[in-house]
Amino acid sequence: MPLVGNLHLLFLLFLFLNHGLAAGSTFNIVSLGAKADGMTDASPAFQEAWANACGSSEPATIYVPNGAFYVHSGNFTGPCKNNAITILINGTLMASSNIQVLAQSQAWIAFRHINGLSIYGGVIDGQGMGLWNCKHSGQSCPDGATSLEIFDSQNVNVNGLSSVNSQMFNIVVYGCQNVQIQGVNVSSASDSPNTDGIHVQQSLNVNISNSNIGTGDDCISIGPGTTNLWMENINCGPGHGISIGSLGKQAEEAGVQNVTVTTATFRGTQNGVRIKSWGRPSDGFATKILFQHILFYNVSNPIFIDQNYCPHQQSCPGQASGVKISDVTYQDINGTSATEVAINFDCSPSNPCTGIHLEDINLNYNDQIPQASCENAQGTASGPLQPRSCLA
Ligand SMILES: *[C@@H]1O[C@H](CO)[C@@H](O)[C@H](O)[C@H]1NC(C)=O
Ligand SMILES: *[C@@H]1O[C@H](CO)[C@@H](O)[C@H](O)[C@H]1NC(C)=O
Ligand SMILES: *[C@@H]1O[C@H](CO)[C@@H](O)[C@H](O)[C@H]1NC(C)=O
Ligand SMILES: *[C@@H]1O[C@H](CO)[C@@H](O)[C@H](O)[C@H]1NC(C)=O
Ligand SMILES: *[C@@H]1O[C@H](CO)[C@@H](O)[C@H](O)[C@H]1NC(C)=O
Ligand SMILES: *[C@@H]1O[C@H](CO)[C@@H](O)[C@H](O)[C@H]1NC(C)=O
Ligand SMILES: *[C@@H]1O[C@H](CO)[C@@H](O)[C@H](O)[C@H]1NC(C)=O
Repeated sequence: MPLVGNLHLLFLLFLFLNHGLAAGSTFNIVSLGAKADGMTDASPAFQEAWANACGSSEPATIYVPNGAFYVHSGNFTGPCKNNAITILINGTLMASSNIQVLAQSQAWIAFRHINGLSIYGGVIDGQGMGLWNCKHSGQSCPDGATSLEIFDSQNVNVNGLSSVNSQMFNIVVYGCQNVQIQGVNVSSASDSPNTDGIHVQQSLNVNISNSNIGTGDDCISIGPGTTNLWMENINCGPGHGISIGSLGKQAEEAGVQNVTVTTATFRGTQNGVRIKSWGRPSDGFATKILFQHILFYNVSNPIFIDQNYCPHQQSCPGQASGVKISDVTYQDINGTSATEVAINFDCSPSNPCTGIHLEDINLNYNDQIPQASCENAQGTASGPLQPRSCLA
């Protein structure tokens, strides 16, 4: 399936090479002084291309040719004078391997306040190993930067991009509407700290499809204020699975609603599909969630609701999660669990989970029937189920 994204990219490159892009102007970063030597900072050329493209009153394209470009940082801010900026990348953008370079930065490459942006192709290499090693060594280290941040933007398309070795999160979508992410590959080491693949928060109408994600943290993480999120044809692993949450860290928090995962494969991940909330008071919620057509290969905690999340046992012990979880459907799910408990609904005593529905589930653990565990979880079940439902 990721072929779709690639064909699209090849098609665009073909158009570009043979006809030039139909409308608007094109800004080639090499013509603006960037060198594909992996050393010279291409940020000034990139920034100039951005100023031209964003200031153009007609559609504009920024073109990154083949080769490795060192980019210190990219701060691409709108609003722009047109709503059709394309960034066509045939090469690799490389961050610095020096962990101090982005120590004060939230993101390495950020697009903010833009309406109408398409990014096609490209590899972005966050060079995160130095930071991971620092974090593993227990020294004090910078938090690390997100490789690609899309913030407060609308009508954004990311197609055929690869993100490798991010310092922290690979791709963050925050405060956005109408975002399509397709044919994207993410790869960070399985023991790399906090390298979530794609994080979506405070956003409306986001669609992530045909993507392969292997990382050291969640393949996809979903934060508060996410509405109408669609995830289709996703391969996840290694990693911590697809996670809604952690929710309910704040006492007042926007909810998550209408989230779908359809057609997904998880390989050797630490969790499968998870909803997670802090065990403390909050007015947050998660509702209208659908997990369907899923295959698990040796996945720990394949089906998991954890409302007692309390890292380091600080500021939560003994408290109940205020997050209300309701209307969650698990449908057509097969495969193998790496833990004896394959279905674990550990819901809040003060806000029990309601409207959970299990349908057509066939999970094994060491060629045996695994267990299902329910605390404060209410709902219904239908179709063949292994393990059997424990819902009240
Ligand atoms: C894109 O990169 C490939 C090699 O990866 C090269 O063969 C091709 O000519 C490049 N196309 C453009 C438009 O630079
Ligand atoms: C990014 O650019 C915008 C506008 O050009 C500026 O206001 C902002 O301070 C810059 N941010 C960073 C982190 O450099
Ligand atoms: C993503 O990975 C798949 C499978 O390895 C590969 O076929 C595809 O070309 C990759 N896509 C990109 C954008 O690198
Ligand atoms: C999400 O995007 C994929 C790929 O373009 C498409 O097939 C699918 O229909 C989209 N889903 C929704 C709900 O728009
Ligand atoms: C739920 O989200 C999907 C896209 O993910 C959208 O097609 C659908 O209309 C939304 N449903 C409601 C009730 O808003
Ligand atoms: C799960 O197994 C059933 C029975 O073999 C099959 O009909 C269904 O297509 C499978 N679903 C997935 C997502 O693999
Ligand atoms: C299954 O996962 C467990 C725990 O992650 C691991 O120890 C084991 O080696 C895996 N088994 C296979 C066959 O991959």
